[in-house]
Amino acid sequence: MIVTRMLPGGALERLGEVVDLECWPGEMPPSPAELLSLAADAVGLLTMYTDRVDTPLLDGCPGLRVVSNLAVGVDNLDVAELSRRGIPVGNTPGVLTDATADLAFALVLAAARRITESRDLLLAGAWTTWKPSAFLGLELRGATIGIVGLGAIGQAVARRAEGFGMQVLGWSRTGRSLPGVTRVPLAELLGSSDVVSLHVALTPETRHMIGAAELASMKSGSILINTARGAVVDQRALYEALVSGHLGGAGLDVYETEPVPLDEPLLRLANCVAVPHIGSATVATRATMAELAVDNLLAGLAGDPLPHCVNPEVYEH
Ligand code: DGY
Repeated sequence: MIVTRMLPGGALERLGEVVDLECWPGEMPPSPAELLSLAADAVGLLTMYTDRVDTPLLDGCPGLRVVSNLAVGVDNLDVAELSRRGIPVGNTPGVLTDATADLAFALVLAAARRITESRDLLLAGAWTTWKPSAFLGLELRGATIGIVGLGAIGQAVARRAEGFGMQVLGWSRTGRSLPGVTRVPLAELLGSSDVVSLHVALTPETRHMIGAAELASMKSGSILINTARGAVVDQRALYEALVSGHLGGAGLDVYETEPVPLDEPLLRLANCVAVPHIGSATVATRATMAELAVDNLLAGLAGDPLPHCVNPEVYEH
């Protein structure tokens, strides 16, 4: 049994009591070659979103019976290929909903009230006096937030926005209706929202779904929040939209390349609040994610259905 990183909480101890466990000890994830050699004889694999599970890896692990990903997103795994091989894939939905929604809302507040920009000025010694018109931001009460993707995290952001007195617009591919959320077409949402928050999974359909044209269609001065996956947004186009002043700000937890390179120009923009993919990073959430990932792994090894399986079709044969 291979776990690709040490995990917080007690889940690994529980796993180690029932299976023969090898845990990658590094601070950095194993490289593809290291993972290949680590997992060659594995029957179960507990992965992070930083690990790629693809055909070359699977070809090198012929005995693999289950893959459990410590994330709700599974875009790091070739799920179609895993399904083709009859290998169930587990993820950790639900337990990170509130932590991620909190972080999304922290970014809404930070961008709307220019928190990092004003803090940088203070630390640079440039706070000369209180000024009536310095750092004026967006008042959330009465402002409109557009939520793109109305899964559990999108809904949790909607509840927070309601609490702040915001009007909530929502769009999702599946057309579900929710109390307190006015469903509108995506174009209308982008054109009418003061804040747009993204909560869709990364799929071929959602890659760059927010590109130059969509950014141009957003309200002047509006704010884009991305806690979903970096590649949902065309990062170059976002940079242009912020530099031109068309967008008022952005709050980003995720990037097209992670870790985001330090020479990424977005990081230098005063109106871009950037944090390093910490959406689910609370003590309680990470421990619960680890428990769930272990539950999925143990179920897979026992030949039972995974409590959270993203490819249940593997059980149809
Ligand atoms: C997820 O669960 O998909 C997160 O992005 C990783 O913490």
